[in-house]
Amino acid sequence: MSIISSFSYLSCCYLYLLGVSALFHLCISNQNHDGVLCMDGERRALLELKHGLVDETDRLASWVGDKSDCCRWEGIACNNSTGHVHHIHLPALNGNCRKDYRNDKEYREAIKQRLRGSLSSSLLHLKQLRHLDLSCNDFGKIQVPEFIASLGNLRVRLVTGKFS
Ligand SMILES: *[C@@H]1O[C@H](CO)[C@@H](O)[C@H](O)[C@H]1NC(C)=O
Ligand SMILES: *[C@@H]1O[C@H](CO)[C@@H](O)[C@H](O)[C@H]1NC(C)=O
Repeated sequence: MSIISSFSYLSCCYLYLLGVSALFHLCISNQNHDGVLCMDGERRALLELKHGLVDETDRLASWVGDKSDCCRWEGIACNNSTGHVHHIHLPALNGNCRKDYRNDKEYREAIKQRLRGSLSSSLLHLKQLRHLDLSCNDFGKIQVPEFIASLGNLRVRLVTGKFS
């Protein structure tokens, strides 16, 4: 074998390996991408929602990150094939609104677990939202904001037991 041909043989090998490793990286990055169901716009909408809420006990601790899968955040469920957020399920006190408290301390602890604050109109970006349960939290006597009524197909539980 001449020096020239063994050289070209080696560079061929080298190119081949380069190609294989590029393919490999492509596969890996696609996999990571596919692993995140959540859509960017919907993730942003949820982060805005969180921003308006007071969450003393950090129930929404998993609601972080620009690239994370919001479908895995606490209380969120998505359609597994489309990745759209379908459910926001965040009732306080396990949905048991009218518990009897043994003492003041227990009562104050329970109060802390309630989300309060304002409901961002960013919810409008969740086009496929079907179910919004924020019951037993403390949104006072606010009416269901009008914008929420404009989301078709949505079942809402904000303050007390019944879906509206
Ligand atoms: C998820 O979305 C697909 C496509 O729109 C739809 O056919 C399916 O019924 C949805 N699944 C659920 C559980 O809603
Ligand atoms: C979507 O996938 C998650 C995790 O794989 C599963 O727990 C959940 O039940 C699925 N939801 C639907 C509607 O199929």
